[in-house]
Amino acid sequence: MNEGIIMESKYVKAICPGSFDPITNGHVDIIERASQLFPEVVVGVLQNPHKKPLFSIEDRVDLIKLAVLHLPNVSVCAFEGLLVDFARKINANLIVKGLRAISDFEIEFQMALNNKRLSPEIETMFMMTRNEYSFLSSSMIKELAQFGGSIQGLVPTEVEKAIHKKFCGMS
Ligand code: PNS
Repeated sequence: MNEGIIMESKYVKAICPGSFDPITNGHVDIIERASQLFPEVVVGVLQNPHKKPLFSIEDRVDLIKLAVLHLPNVSVCAFEGLLVDFARKINANLIVKGLRAISDFEIEFQMALNNKRLSPEIETMFMMTRNEYSFLSSSMIKELAQFGGSIQGLVPTEVEKAIHKKFCGMS
């Protein structure tokens, strides 16, 4: 079956976009899996002037860089404005996102269709989140940590330290 035929994909640079406030192990899992499928992956971190994140854009980028140190084909970059404009700017033609549950589907579907309308040449691909991370979100992590709940195993170690520092002033 297709033995000996080498198929070259036209998707060489993929973007994993998000707010990453902060990055969770669910995000890391999607980035790792994308990095195995595509030669180059750029984690695009949205700087939204209308939102007040817990972590600054610089901190979010630094925490992601630490979390993907083991992935040589992954880089991290902040962006503002439309995702498709950022994709064009860095020459990426694929957006990779994780889907946790049916509840994610509606908004993700809307975003994918809007992005397709704006830039038909850019494809969106969804990966199903691993079962163990299907309940995980950055908002949930912040709430757990704020009220003293354990977040161990749900976020990279550096994120755990940074979030405890924010809420308890300890490292
Ligand atoms: O982690 P998030 O907050 O779910 O990520 C959402 C994100 C950053 C991928 C999305 O809000 C986005 O792409 N924002 C950039 C603005 C944009 O392009 N909007 C049009 C999509 S309809």
